[in-house]
Amino acid sequence: MQPPHFGTAVTSPILPLQDPSLLQTKAMQSMFDCFEGLCEGTVIVDREARVIWINDRYAARLHIDPVRAIGQEIEALIPNSLMRQVVVTGQPILIDLLEAANQTFVVMRMPFRDEAGEVAGAVGFALFSHYESLKPLFDRFSGLQTELARARKKLAEARATKYTFSSFIGDSPATMEVKRLARRAAQLQAPVLLHGETGTGKELLAQAIHAGGPRAGKPFVPVNMAAIPEALMEAEFFGVAPGAFTGADRKHRPGKFELAHGGTLFLDEIGDLPLPLQSKLLRVLQEQECEPLGSNRVIPVDVRILAATSRDLEAMVEDGRFRKDLFYRLNVLNIPLPPLRQRLGDLELLCEHLLEKTALENGTRARELSPEAIGYLKRHAWPGNVRELRNVLERAVMNTDEVRLEAAAFRGLLKAAEEPPAGPRALPDRTYAQAMAEAERQILESALSAAQGKVVEAARRLGIGRATFYKRMSALQRPSPD
Ligand SMILES: Nc1ncnc2c1ncn2[C@@H]1O[C@H](COP(=O)(O)OP(=O)(O)OP(=O)(O)O)[C@@H](O)[C@H]1O
Ligand SMILES: [Mg+2]
Repeated sequence: MQPPHFGTAVTSPILPLQDPSLLQTKAMQSMFDCFEGLCEGTVIVDREARVIWINDRYAARLHIDPVRAIGQEIEALIPNSLMRQVVVTGQPILIDLLEAANQTFVVMRMPFRDEAGEVAGAVGFALFSHYESLKPLFDRFSGLQTELARARKKLAEARATKYTFSSFIGDSPATMEVKRLARRAAQLQAPVLLHGETGTGKELLAQAIHAGGPRAGKPFVPVNMAAIPEALMEAEFFGVAPGAFTGADRKHRPGKFELAHGGTLFLDEIGDLPLPLQSKLLRVLQEQECEPLGSNRVIPVDVRILAATSRDLEAMVEDGRFRKDLFYRLNVLNIPLPPLRQRLGDLELLCEHLLEKTALENGTRARELSPEAIGYLKRHAWPGNVRELRNVLERAVMNTDEVRLEAAAFRGLLKAAEEPPAGPRALPDRTYAQAMAEAERQILESALSAAQGKVVEAARRLGIGRATFYKRMSALQRPSPD
């Protein structure tokens, strides 16, 4: 395309300057020619930011047709362009970096005005990206970009590896079964429902499932139903369109579904989701798309759903407090996390791990537990499970400098009601069935550990068949009778 010409002889639609002095016209023409020659690209837009001229080199660089470009809004050709900002504000942008068509340009943008002084349009120059004097600037920019990419990767790695299956401590048969189910779940795409008492490691396991599966490099986005006020839940899940309501952001605010795109959405405390939201969630899961508040645009949803609850969802379904259809959709793979008191075989290993972690965090020496201390802790009911164990250990460590912690270090730290009795072991807070189940569990677990985990051998030692051993084990993993 011919470059535009400034002057009275040619009536240019771009700069309708009336009666400029010859000198001024010449100066302008030569300045434009000079820049135009130096630059990789030149583009001119009118006051509506529509292209009125673009030079062939720039069009070629951007892979566009210079003739068809005329009349188009600048963003249609260069999505990141700030030419509109220049015509709207009337302010030039003298040096900037522009990313377009997978290249980086140093750009300069200037408005121009009509005789009345009104902004009539803007001209943009894109400098050669290999222009010698700009090399330091480009090097610095690409250096920063590499650093940014590295930092992003690190962040993703930190997120992805915060918890893996090896973080889930325990080698009791019950815990091994939980890990087996979770490892299998990691390889599948179906929703998983994790249920267990507070502090049993539901969130830890959800992260491990995400980190152990094909979506590991993508986001893991947790949403806690118990922590979000009902009125805000919909916006939180599905996002908000720009200006959807008074006070809404001018920019689109993405919802958790959008943030988790390609990755995993962890719906924590799903039992706290109010019924109207349950219907909406179900619809999104069925249709695989969602609609931000106040928009008429649908966003495709590609997320893997992991849900957790400490409530009895089946009972809630029966009472009509949880939708049956949603329950079935979430409960495709079910992983029950047994409470700590039902897998006391893990307690010692957990203590070791938690004490090591505390020492590492405080930069101190790791403490040990005396056998009496372990025995003492094993007699506590641990209603707060591993979280409670961690807190109790941390407090005991703070109370003394001894490397070896004795049972006495824990007296007064366990909740009074659950303090184990001092005398011979009594079971006042358990039913007969619970006590029997506990005794049976200990028999099975100790046989299994004596047989180094070999079920056939453990069963032989106890004088029962392998099938019976399995049956008793799995019966014990169901919620204990009370
Ligand atoms: N098996 C385990 N090995 C190591 N740490 C564990 C284990 N289980 C739980 N924890 C630790 O206990 C704490 C509680 O775990 P988490 O938050 O995953 O529990 P939760 O089941 O989600 O509890 P809540 O229902 O209260 O949210 C965390 O610090 C977690 O790291
Ligand atoms: Mg949790």
